[in-house]
Amino acid sequence: MRLGVMTSGGDSPGMNAAIRAVVRTAIHQDMGVVGIMRGFLGIACDAPDVKDLDTDSVSNILQRGGTILKSGRCPEMLTEEGRERAAAHLREAGVDVLLAIGGNGTMQGLQALLNHWNGGLILLPGTIDNDCGGTDYTIGYDTALNTALDSIDRIRDTAEAFDRVFLVEVMGRHCGALAVGAAIAGGAEEVIIPETPTDLEALARRLIEGQKLGRGTSIVVVSEHDDAGNAPEIAGWLGENYSIDTRVCVLGHTQRGGRPTADDRILASRLGVYAVRLAQETQGRVAAVVGVRSDKVVTTPLAEAVKEGGHLDPGLADLVAELSR
Ligand code: F6P
Repeated sequence: MRLGVMTSGGDSPGMNAAIRAVVRTAIHQDMGVVGIMRGFLGIACDAPDVKDLDTDSVSNILQRGGTILKSGRCPEMLTEEGRERAAAHLREAGVDVLLAIGGNGTMQGLQALLNHWNGGLILLPGTIDNDCGGTDYTIGYDTALNTALDSIDRIRDTAEAFDRVFLVEVMGRHCGALAVGAAIAGGAEEVIIPETPTDLEALARRLIEGQKLGRGTSIVVVSEHDDAGNAPEIAGWLGENYSIDTRVCVLGHTQRGGRPTADDRILASRLGVYAVRLAQETQGRVAAVVGVRSDKVVTTPLAEAVKEGGHLDPGLADLVAELSR
């Protein structure tokens, strides 16, 4: 059996650890592995961009952020022609099972490929957003969370020195998991997420009330793509309408890079090994997401995981309000 492995969409710390686990397990089982470069771009383009991988290709990468296979966003996969080309290039490369490490967009790309490709497809959820069905945690979420937390701790130092209100914008696309996690762990006073409508008037009142009660510093964690706008826009609104003086810090792509935490390395290694075994046990007849549920590695059919989507426990956001009182 020959496996194809690729990383697709926003890179996340731990992707390299997953590639390493896939390649080492496959070689140990006498399977061949081909690396597909730049995600779907490496197969949906005119000529396939692939390379054979061996044990040496994955040595000394476990601890590195980013991805040795590079990543990409591939609009061609939104077209029938692009998907047909991707399937043809997978056949040309002799791939029996495609193992894709990526997030929601990658999952949807795999689902779309199903109509054109009769080989196996396995998604290893890898994204800082933690917005995938079929798993409690995605590879990279823990590292990004700790990176955001480190920044929030630093921001609190300077915020306290001036008794300031800070808006800290974190990534997450349309999922507030990163924001809520960082807000709880960082002791933020407020968190704003896309899953719930944001009432800016109420936010302003709470901030003013807090100041009256003697709370000098407030940290508001803002998830990107909130319905009220991004952090600079919300800061502008608070200033114009309530004369609240704020400072803004947009953490941006710093959250995507850096050495993966131990948790992300372990998760990536577990999912990599499991995915290869699944490919072998099913003899390639598989379309699934491998993930963790209550710390057990599990398989979820791809179609089911696509429907499930990301899931943020709504009660978690309430903790932020409860604990800032
Ligand atoms: O999906 C990961 C992610 O970092 C999101 O949190 C963010 O919205 C997006 O990717 C940014 O994408 P890009 O790096 O293409 O600007």
